[in-house]
Amino acid sequence: MKEYRNKDIIVYWYPEQCSHPGICLRTLPEVFCSEKHPWVNIDGAKPEEIIKCIDRCPSGALRYSLPEGSTVNPELAKGSGSIENMKDIPNTVKIKVVKKGPYLVEGPTEVISADGTPLYTGSRLALCSCGCTQNPPFCDGSHRK
Ligand code: SF4
Ligand code: FES
Repeated sequence: MKEYRNKDIIVYWYPEQCSHPGICLRTLPEVFCSEKHPWVNIDGAKPEEIIKCIDRCPSGALRYSLPEGSTVNPELAKGSGSIENMKDIPNTVKIKVVKKGPYLVEGPTEVISADGTPLYTGSRLALCSCGCTQNPPFCDGSHRK
């Protein structure tokens, strides 16, 4: 996990969970740009805009929280992208089948490898349905090729 922060917001990045539909890149290119290093420019937009964008991330690869002293209204930071939602997990698991894409899982989930190694615990992820991923069982965007 990588972390990017300024005085108003902390953005968390779980690269192995990203399914690359590119919503963040298209929604807020000033902040999320895969051609730049680091790829997250935390000062590229208002924290409220970053929150809105991360709430749309389908895989849970991007998350946010508010640091102490943040000027952001905490009510705005309670969406599906909030890091708090990784703890506050709903009871029902919802799996959305994306046409020619991954299975988007929402709800309390543990993924365990064939040898019993825990791979993921959380509430939002994208699982590969096409068999082409280089990071099984997670979708890595390879289905688009
Ligand atoms: S899955 Fe999330 S982090 Fe990955 S490209 Fe899409 S919106 Fe960005
Ligand atoms: S469904 Fe995305 S890599 Fe297979």
